[in-house]
Amino acid sequence: MKSHRIAVIPGDGIGTEVCRAARAVLDAVGRRHAIDLTYDEFDWSCARYLDEGAMMPANGLDLIRHHDAIFLGAVGAPGVPDHVSLWGLLIPIRRGFEQFVNLRPIRVLDGQQAIDLVVVRENVEGEYSEIGGRLYRGTPAEMAVQESVFTRTGVTRIVDYALDLAEQRSGRLTSATKSNGIIHTMPFWDEIVAERVAERSSVTMRSEHIDALCAKLVLDPAQFDVIVASNLFGDILSDLAAAVAGSIGLAPAANIDPTRAHPSMFEPVHGSAPDIVGRGIANPVGAIWTAAMMLDHLGHPEASANILAAIGSVFAKSSVRTPDLGGTATTADMTLAIVEAL
Ligand code: NAI
Ligand code: MG
Repeated sequence: MKSHRIAVIPGDGIGTEVCRAARAVLDAVGRRHAIDLTYDEFDWSCARYLDEGAMMPANGLDLIRHHDAIFLGAVGAPGVPDHVSLWGLLIPIRRGFEQFVNLRPIRVLDGQQAIDLVVVRENVEGEYSEIGGRLYRGTPAEMAVQESVFTRTGVTRIVDYALDLAEQRSGRLTSATKSNGIIHTMPFWDEIVAERVAERSSVTMRSEHIDALCAKLVLDPAQFDVIVASNLFGDILSDLAAAVAGSIGLAPAANIDPTRAHPSMFEPVHGSAPDIVGRGIANPVGAIWTAAMMLDHLGHPEASANILAAIGSVFAKSSVRTPDLGGTATTADMTLAIVEAL
């Protein structure tokens, strides 16, 4: 029996609903594959921010530093500005634990291989930087400046990760750029991508401007396999691709420190969905697929594949669908169908 200790942060809104679903599937698959998961739950959230003035305690990172992985539902609540939830919790964890890879697989799950791609998003630098400021607030001269940060180390390691993945998959890599409009950082990104690709004879790379890439992803997603992108471009591309594949409620994500010096964090792509919270209709598949990614990272590829096969068989062989996919099933119905398919 292999044991792992997981820090669970259900968060806000449907985050708590999909976490419960993911844990039900993890427990069932753990029994089948002799994996013993213990969970420590943390109430870090916008609800906590409204009560105590902070998303997490000041020593938050130290409380979860020694866990084997972190599982997060979603954070965000009406009445709390979104930059508070992001900068008060998610970004400190991603950066503090050097989770520089944000991995977002997108696949149509009913067995047809029309869409099967992975967005490899840079997760700790790029456009999401704290450098900048506001001047002359409240006057007609008011202004805001925001700097992007691209480092040779940061770009090199994300491109190398994407190249490793491309070698394991189809040997095809697409790099998202915008070096026609953004004249300093994006040509730098392109140069480093070209340098790294030159060392891999087994990978072919094409570079696409982000706007054209978005259009192609909508019109013909099957032509893509591994896409590497900066923090902002990767964020947008993965929501777009998830929607093309059916629903954002299906999409999983992992924030990974490939060096394993720190725990990695697993969270579905979607947010707290305040518009459907409490109705029991959130699609749990994104969170359940995220749990499969966590098991894979923890060294249990068979258990992970078992979850994906179970999700696939529910889509292929049953009509159980949550409302975001046009059905009438509840979160609990969908979760039960997946547990039974295991
Ligand atoms: P969202 O992902 O919460 O919702 C967008 C739309 O998709 C909504 O109509 C929602 O009902 C639907 N949706 C999302 N997940 C679903 C699921 N599992 N099943 C069925 N339908 C689903 O994004 P939105 O509305 O932009 O943000 C809401 C809050 O979530 C904000 O406070 C935002 O900051 C936060 N957020 C948090 C994220 C995180 O914790 N990683 C990521 C994205 C947003
Ligand atoms: Mg996003």
